Amino acid sequence: MGLSEKIAALQAEALEKLKKLANDQELNDLRVNVLGKKGSLTEILKEMKNLSAEERPTIGALANEFRDKINFMLEEKKLEFAQKTLNAALVQETLDVTLPGKQQKQGTRHILTQTQEEIEDIFLGMGYEVIDGSEVETDHYNFERMNLPKGHPARDMQDTFYITEDTLLRTHTSPLQARTMDAHDFSRGGLRMIAPGRVYRRDTDDATHSHQFHQIEGLVVGKDITMADLKGTLDLVMKKMFGQDRKLRWRPSYFPFTEPSVEVDISCFKCGGTGCNVCKQTGWIEILGAGMVHPNVLEMSGLDSSIYSGFAFGLGVERIAMLRYGINDIRGFYQGDVRFLEQFAL
Ligand code: DAH
Repeated sequence: MGLSEKIAALQAEALEKLKKLANDQELNDLRVNVLGKKGSLTEILKEMKNLSAEERPTIGALANEFRDKINFMLEEKKLEFAQKTLNAALVQETLDVTLPGKQQKQGTRHILTQTQEEIEDIFLGMGYEVIDGSEVETDHYNFERMNLPKGHPARDMQDTFYITEDTLLRTHTSPLQARTMDAHDFSRGGLRMIAPGRVYRRDTDDATHSHQFHQIEGLVVGKDITMADLKGTLDLVMKKMFGQDRKLRWRPSYFPFTEPSVEVDISCFKCGGTGCNVCKQTGWIEILGAGMVHPNVLEMSGLDSSIYSGFAFGLGVERIAMLRYGINDIRGFYQGDVRFLEQFAL
């Protein structure tokens, strides 16, 4: 067989194998076997030295043509494989936009936040400012300016966490009374504010006590502010919070920073006053402390107590939420248990 026939035979064989190639690996093998250093073509070309000078260029051209052809076809095959792999991947990774999405759990505002904001809204509607205060407070504002000088026995009711001898975690939001009065320009009129926030007490935690909880302080100071204003205001707010048929009961009480001081009860919103488990069979629920701002507290802020007067109140946010939603353990608010929290999802 002459060289040209051998090349033709090799070509026919190579083309046949090319058709049957299944993957890149086989393709590479074929390339090496045919065109490689030890491949069939190289073997054939070794015999070129036996050819005459006339024959050589013809066979050389034939061999080059064959090499180009095979190279071209291998390249095509390679592209075909790549395309197949890509198509397979595309089919596998098809995005079916009609599939139902994965449900994302959505959080909700904490029930204490909701309660606080609801109360804020009521007071904002009556022209009150909402004041933010620091949870780290000085002894001066937390106690002294609230008419609780050092050694005052009522300090014991609010034992707390001291940071230094003069700084502590505030035991109530009442220091915001003094701070707001200090900052207020009374030549431009009186002041109406509420100050919501977290407070701390050295308490043993149980179902109704927590070493930290939330209060909302209220303060109105101006000329001719009387107890009637306090009664009218709280009556309106409590009716908005607990229902229009609520009645308020006022009992004399004691707070160092108010004189006179009162404890306010609302008629039970569950039984209406006949007695049940919520009101402990009394028909009344204790809801907040309040009173007329003590003259000492006004004077310490530089106000003349013969001209200025005011009322103040303090209510517990947890207590209000517990009463409204029938929550019987205060610890539920702080444990972050979704089963508890999601009951109050809006
Ligand atoms: N600061 C009091 C407490 O934490 C609550 C309070 C009572 C605030 C009477 C007041 C008030 O403004 O007038 O127990």
